[in-house]
Amino acid sequence: MPTSHLVVTRNLPEEILGILRPLGTLDAWESDDTIPRQMLLQKAHLATALLCLVTERIDEELLVHAPQLRIVANVAVGYDNVDVAALTRRGVLLTNTPGVLTETTADLAFALILAGARRLGEGERMVREGKWGPWKPFGFLGRDVHHATLGIIGLGRIGLAVAKRAQGFDMRVLYCNRGRQAEAEDKLGCQRVDLDTLLRESDFVLILTPLNAETRGLISTPQLRLMKPSAYLINAARGPIVDQAALYLALRDGVIAGASLDVTDPEPLPLTDPLLTLDNCFIVPHVGSATIATRIRMATLAAENIAAFLSGHRPPTPVNPEVLMPGGGANC
Ligand code: DGY
Repeated sequence: MPTSHLVVTRNLPEEILGILRPLGTLDAWESDDTIPRQMLLQKAHLATALLCLVTERIDEELLVHAPQLRIVANVAVGYDNVDVAALTRRGVLLTNTPGVLTETTADLAFALILAGARRLGEGERMVREGKWGPWKPFGFLGRDVHHATLGIIGLGRIGLAVAKRAQGFDMRVLYCNRGRQAEAEDKLGCQRVDLDTLLRESDFVLILTPLNAETRGLISTPQLRLMKPSAYLINAARGPIVDQAALYLALRDGVIAGASLDVTDPEPLPLTDPLLTLDNCFIVPHVGSATIATRIRMATLAAENIAAFLSGHRPPTPVNPEVLMPGGGANC
């Protein structure tokens, strides 16, 4: 078997690189900044395996530059940055990192719900700006999260973990999915409804669905108009699922009460974006899975996928397993 050439697109801890080093020649981009596209295309030329992040676009153009490429290990559960069909056509395996970030991302989703409802961003800014006036009985009021209705669009692993947290807040949980989520219904009492019902009845609408052709722009003016004027939109999935211009108008005009976003379109959000002028929009920089333990687990799983594949074993979390050899490993 020819020696493998492994390209890593970001500075990663030695414990991750140590999994990859024995597998072949390691070419790691040693920077905390996104690898420039031209540099990635250049490095891809020799690559057998590519360990990348959501910041890298893995598309036909890259594949043309990477004739030896056999596996792409994306350090994320979402893989909207990858043209899966193009990889599959060329017999290139894609792996992602499901499961290991579930609880951490659910924690952040719940933090977003609380931050919006209790105006945490606004309050923190006010304190820092020296605008903390006398205590007022009817000043700075938010909304109760406990006993409210939470609507989850796309209830998978992370949604289930959020629904468990919602139980502790005595919330009613609605969800909208293609299929029934038996565990959510039977163990947690979640109720499956159509999207319009979810939007009409929820106090907090939480987006957790993957970004794809069907979900791009899923939440726009008509959907926002269905929501209660007292309701909050929370996006912990991907920015382009929400029509951001429509969201801005809905927040500005009081169509909905507020929004909490972990993701935007684009990322980073330019300082000139109108959303940043609104007090009722809480925004954090795509940190859903950002704890030390979880980011290590994600990068480790990505490296383990490459290690298994190059050693002829079935990788733990393939996205397009149809390209695997019957034994599970590399077809090279
Ligand atoms: C994911 O895993 O999809 C997170 O959004 C990190 O990119």
